[in-house]
Amino acid sequence: MNIEKSKVIEVLKGIIYFAKGDNIVDLGMIDELIISDNTLRFRLVFPKLGEPAVNIVSNAATKALKEAFGDSTIIDITPITEKEKGRGPLAGVRNIIAIASGKGGVGKSTVAANLAVALSRTGAKVGLVDADIYGPSVPMMFGIVDEAPGMIEKEGKQMIVPIEKYGIRLLSIGFFVDTDKPLIWRGPMATSALNQLLTDADWGILDFLIIDLPPGTGDIQLTLAQSYSITGAVVVTTPQKVAFADVRRAATMFRQEKLTIPLLGLIENMAYFTPLDMPEKKYYIFGKGHGEGFANALGIPLIGQIPIVEQISSSGDSGSPIALDEDSPVAKAFLEVAYKVKELINK
Ligand SMILES: Nc1ncnc2c1ncn2[C@@H]1O[C@H](COP(=O)(O)OP(=O)(O)O)[C@@H](O)[C@H]1O
Ligand SMILES: [Mg+2]
Repeated sequence: MNIEKSKVIEVLKGIIYFAKGDNIVDLGMIDELIISDNTLRFRLVFPKLGEPAVNIVSNAATKALKEAFGDSTIIDITPITEKEKGRGPLAGVRNIIAIASGKGGVGKSTVAANLAVALSRTGAKVGLVDADIYGPSVPMMFGIVDEAPGMIEKEGKQMIVPIEKYGIRLLSIGFFVDTDKPLIWRGPMATSALNQLLTDADWGILDFLIIDLPPGTGDIQLTLAQSYSITGAVVVTTPQKVAFADVRRAATMFRQEKLTIPLLGLIENMAYFTPLDMPEKKYYIFGKGHGEGFANALGIPLIGQIPIVEQISSSGDSGSPIALDEDSPVAKAFLEVAYKVKELINK
């Protein structure tokens, strides 16, 4: 029997990979398709294996092909990862680190931005994705509010070019989703926008891609867990007890069996107050030892404690993260956090 390749492609276009909301052909998941006699052989490229979706999609493809070309056709599908294929859009990214929190306003973006800067200061190549649909803030923190990412054509595909500032490659969901629209309209666009930020952007070679997640547990977190191979999540909290209930909820989500994003550890932000003119003083205005207590309760390391310093806020507003200021004690705290994160990843 003679099976035409175009016919095979047509059949496979009917198979949807729901995590990315498109068919497996247009998502570029078909690799090394070989047709010989009555055998159809190809590799199916997934973001990661061990997901229920891998079997569901493979079985659906087998069934559709047998229906189209006859039951005696041998369908030989090998699921592989984008990493194994060595080409995926994020193939050049060695570690993806998600910055999560239970609720907003705890300093998640501040930590994401300054960790990115601090990792870069250790000599690593770093990218930062602002995926916070509720309040994208990377453009402001890096002073690129009025800029727009460019496009480049690569292998016949249009790719987004991240904006580079302070040696860090940056993209924000705020560039692609209208944040003046009510959340109910932004929400459905958010996951597809995140996929574009990750998959359709030319990130190149990176040691770390930091993702500033929205607070809590929602579609963005789910998409990320299901469709990308996340190295680990860093959870940010403040010392108040009320914050912890939300942190625990977020941590529990990451630990769900089918998601399994490893929790690298906890960062206690606003752990104590240090006045500008008395950098050696530490006032534990919300009480001491809460961060350590939270980390112990979750069974994860306390990666670091960041003080409340007026300068953190003003530097964030002025588009130059405090971690760039080598003389500031806060920059030192973030540098320590960066080394600790590296150490935890290598474990
Ligand atoms: N350690 C800190 N000291 C002083 N201000 C801080 C600190 N961390 C965050 N902030 C300020 O608090 C506000 C909320 O921080 P942000 O990082 O945007 O939180 P989130 O991303 O969790 O919503 C910002 O104005 C930020 O500058
Ligand atoms: Mg934020």
